[in-house]
Amino acid sequence: GGGVGDKVDYVFKVVLIGDSAVGKSQILARFARNEFSLDSKATIGVEFQTRTLVIQHKSIKAQIWDTAGQERYRAVTSAYYRGALGAMLVYDITKRQTFDHIPRWLEELRGHADKNLVIMLIGNKSDLEDQRVVPTEDAKEFAQKEGLFFLETSALQATNVDTAFTTVLTEIF
Ligand code: GTP
Ligand code: MG
Repeated sequence: GGGVGDKVDYVFKVVLIGDSAVGKSQILARFARNEFSLDSKATIGVEFQTRTLVIQHKSIKAQIWDTAGQERYRAVTSAYYRGALGAMLVYDITKRQTFDHIPRWLEELRGHADKNLVIMLIGNKSDLEDQRVVPTEDAKEFAQKEGLFFLETSALQATNVDTAFTTVLTEIF
């Protein structure tokens, strides 16, 4: 007895959304299993993984849901968002379109999820600085205007992935 796995004080559902290929599934793989794959397949339907963390002396089980960015592979939206307390809204810093679509994702999110939902805007693939097309300042400004948290991450290099999740989980808590 006495281990972290012994008891769970809270289960928090967090959803990942954003365009296809921005890196949602690899962010989840990095957070849940500390793994990364360069030839990751597009997600079909819905998958989820969990990781239990200790925050402020409580054992918190994060249940992270991941769905397809591609419309034709997406599952029923309302079921996906039901009960979610946190959301990771992901774009790719090297693909302008994925950032331009963020307001649409935010609208869908706000249309379906809880009023007190904690939302983190994530600019992923920060390791590809030489291919950057979305300035950090643009995203920071957007996040501030919309009341979102904001971080740039690299699932590949494991930069800020844990910080992004622990920030959201701590805020929910
Ligand atoms: P859908 O499931 O179709 O919605 O896509 P997704 O958002 O889950 O993207 P996925 O995680 O499958 O990653 C897409 C591609 O980007 C893969 O080739 C990943 O290896 C790559 N990728 C993901 N994260 C990073 C990162 O931080 N840096 C780099 N360089 N590549 C990444
Ligand atoms: Mg995926």
